[in-house]
Amino acid sequence: MRALELSDRDLSDLASEAARIAADYWASLPSRPAYPSTSGTETSRLFDRPWANEGRGRAVLDDFSAIAQHVRPCTGRFFGYVAGSGEPVGAIGDFLASVLNQNCTSWRSAPAAVSIERVVVGWLAEAVGCAGFAGSLCGGGSTANLMGLAMARESLLPANDDGARPGVVYASEQAHMSIAKAVSLLGLGRNNLRLLPVDASLRLRADAVRDAIAQDRRAGKTPLAIVASVGTVATGAIDPLHDLAQIAETEGLWLHVDGAFGVMAALAVPEKFDGLSLADSISLDAHKWLYQPIDCSCLLYRNRDAPRRAFSYSGDYVRIFNQDPEETFAFFDESIELTRRFRALKLWMSLQYHGRDAYREAIGRDLRHAELLAESVQSHPQLELLAPVPLSAVCFRHRTKNNEAILRRVIARGRVYLSNAMINGHFALRACFVNHRTTPQDVDEIIREVIAAADELND
Ligand SMILES: Cc1ncc(COP(=O)(O)O)c(C=O)c1O
Repeated sequence: MRALELSDRDLSDLASEAARIAADYWASLPSRPAYPSTSGTETSRLFDRPWANEGRGRAVLDDFSAIAQHVRPCTGRFFGYVAGSGEPVGAIGDFLASVLNQNCTSWRSAPAAVSIERVVVGWLAEAVGCAGFAGSLCGGGSTANLMGLAMARESLLPANDDGARPGVVYASEQAHMSIAKAVSLLGLGRNNLRLLPVDASLRLRADAVRDAIAQDRRAGKTPLAIVASVGTVATGAIDPLHDLAQIAETEGLWLHVDGAFGVMAALAVPEKFDGLSLADSISLDAHKWLYQPIDCSCLLYRNRDAPRRAFSYSGDYVRIFNQDPEETFAFFDESIELTRRFRALKLWMSLQYHGRDAYREAIGRDLRHAELLAESVQSHPQLELLAPVPLSAVCFRHRTKNNEAILRRVIARGRVYLSNAMINGHFALRACFVNHRTTPQDVDEIIREVIAAADELND
């Protein structure tokens, strides 16, 4: 055998064994702790090793068990951050995408894969009420937000040729950190990001945006874009889309929607997302609330000229010698990436395997789980809800105990995993439901675990 080649038999055995390991792992998820009990020293001891000259062959699969014991599993009791659940059909799609190893730069490089990605992006756009938007898949919401704001900059304050000029971006003080990162990376200057006050529901105040724009214009600054969070990472607040779209139109600004967390819920509760189609660009994360394995984000845009202005710059070595509109299509003209993996295959398989109704139902269930937790918090004398629950993130606290200490205990106990947020100056315990495996019993565990952890504290 030549180096790196496997016999058909060995390859088939390896693939079968890997499939068996995967199936066992998925079956074991309900009994796994919500977070591994491990340390930096322990994981280094287990995995820090030299790359040997001799191959280990099939024994490489033996490490899976230790790896699986030291990862954060996608159980139905992991409620931290905005952590999707890695739907298995999507995972199999990811495996098959790697088998095909397509480079989705352009139709010419990956005919079927690029056609499928364009179809799948159309499904997502239509599912969230934005039929007719084009777009592309990318690694994460942070990249999608960066590309959205790059399109804004290149459309209104072109910088690709002569360098960036400061342009002011308006977002809520609850906006995700990726917005500030994008503003700085785009050379707009982080001091030109206005993180503006929110209302009692933690939604960006339209009047604050109007005032800030007027003030910036008086000071000789150049307003560039408004970022609407839909919903915010901490509480799922949905910024007032119609008002913000109207301001953007009147002022000649770009409207980008950061929908990495919330926008997919438009499939189940479209009425909450009225006005979404007024945006110029929208990020949404299928690896969050569409349950897909990481990575799978999408940037949608109303007009394909905008990404072309921002990203189209190709060398002669990628010239396409063709006139057919399908066959000349190149994602590298509309994206930061050149080499792009076949992310669309997992969506293509998973969305069709289950069908649209199943996804709508799963998102609806997450929304009900959040309501259930909010109701339980409100009816518990020791607990207090800290923010409204428009989508599926619930922020609450223990009224008398140290909530940071409670959080550490909850995580150490390993039954459920919560994360945290700061709400109006209060440290909040936060549970987010974007997981198709969660059951109402898992939701009940949250209150039990928080109270048990609080009871263990002496203060
Ligand atoms: C509102 C919001 N925007 C952007 C992001 C960043 O997405 P990603 O982690 O996929 O880069 C997140 C992640 O949680 C988010 O909640």
